[in-house]
Amino acid sequence: MKASLPLLAALSLLLLLPACKVGKATTVAGHEQRWDELPRADKMAYMVDVVEPQMREAFQAHDATRFAEFDCATCHGEGASDGGFAMPNPQLPHLREAGLFKEHRKAHPDMVKFMWKGVEVPMAEMLGKTAGGGGEFNCHSCHIVDDE
Ligand code: HEC
Ligand code: HEC
Repeated sequence: MKASLPLLAALSLLLLLPACKVGKATTVAGHEQRWDELPRADKMAYMVDVVEPQMREAFQAHDATRFAEFDCATCHGEGASDGGFAMPNPQLPHLREAGLFKEHRKAHPDMVKFMWKGVEVPMAEMLGKTAGGGGEFNCHSCHIVDDE
């Protein structure tokens, strides 16, 4: 386990590289359409039934105290109360992409690692999207990136 940590770190870094795309684009589980083509009511139901429960589990496993109150608003902010659910959500921390998000990796290494491996990749899979810098679903899907 110890010996594989640097390798894991290197692999996670790859997920951020612009050309590196993870997974393949598919239809959404239980649907014949891709996510972008789903009617809004189906997107809503899928968020309620699939995304929110799985992401709640992941965020709470990462930090049960900080994410004790996890719900739609954790990701959507005011979009959850005004019903717009627009993403990216400007109320999430704004990011700076320079040096593969270097300043964030320095300030919040565990959280950034969780964002790649525990949020970006599984959530892309749930939506049937490719993940990573060159993929359809990545940090930009949720966060505003100021220096893009
Ligand atoms: C882990 C973060 C996360 C959580 C929690 C979450 N969502 Fe989402 N939601 C997203 C992202 C990201 C998108 C945009 C996906 C895309 O288009 O690539 C989205 C899209 C949507 C959309 C479609 C918006 C549009 O204009 O197409 C609706 C509706 C929605 N979410 C409702 C909900 C509801 C209701 C909940 C709570 C039950 C919820 N979401 C919980 C991240 C989240
Ligand atoms: C599905 C939505 C989603 C995606 C994709 C996503 N994030 Fe996040 N991010 C969040 C949420 C939710 C939080 C927690 C906000 C809070 O504290 O309530 C967060 C928090 C953060 C923070 C704050 C760290 C801290 O401890 O304060 C950083 C930095 C961050 N994300 C970076 C990233 C990076 C880099 C990526 C891409 C690898 C990424 N995020 C992808 C939803 C997302």
